[in-house]
Amino acid sequence: MTEAIRVAVLVSSDKSAKGEREDLSGPAIVSKLHGLAEVAAQEIVPDEKELIIEKLITYADELKVDIVFTSGGTGLAPRDVTPEATLEVCDRLVPGITDAMRLRSMEMTDRAMLSRAVAGIRGRTLIINLPGSPKAVRECLDVFLPVMDHAVETLRGEAVECAH
Ligand code: MTE
Repeated sequence: MTEAIRVAVLVSSDKSAKGEREDLSGPAIVSKLHGLAEVAAQEIVPDEKELIIEKLITYADELKVDIVFTSGGTGLAPRDVTPEATLEVCDRLVPGITDAMRLRSMEMTDRAMLSRAVAGIRGRTLIINLPGSPKAVRECLDVFLPVMDHAVETLRGEAVECAH
């Protein structure tokens, strides 16, 4: 890895955006990334597709972070729109990341199948949806973090050889 991994953390939650509920999932992501990545931005937005799209584009095109982790808005509720916002800004999808998270999460709770989380790439930024609870965030990051370095190396075009 030539340079430290830079990430942005975006929480989608109507209640947390209004200050009606303390957000614990953003801090859970930041704490999991301690010592592994620099957090360049951490924000909370309501569950509004256009606002989420705006933030994702800013993080990818202006801040040029390696990874955006979103939290929340992946379920079946009428206002859950994070996957739709993510799909709209991505050029390429990486279904294996969210497939693996769901598969492993099913060992913890059957409700894992209710997350519609997606992962994809915009330019050189990987965007990964996580479900909204701090517990889900920790469980899903436990699945992804072991491959984070290699994901970023390949995204940046730094990985020369994948085979050992
Ligand atoms: N995944 C893991 N690993 N652990 C969990 O506790 N909760 C599920 C699911 N994924 C959960 C999980 C539940 S209860 C829901 S409703 C969906 O994620 C969607 O959550 P979201 O709407 O907060 O994104």
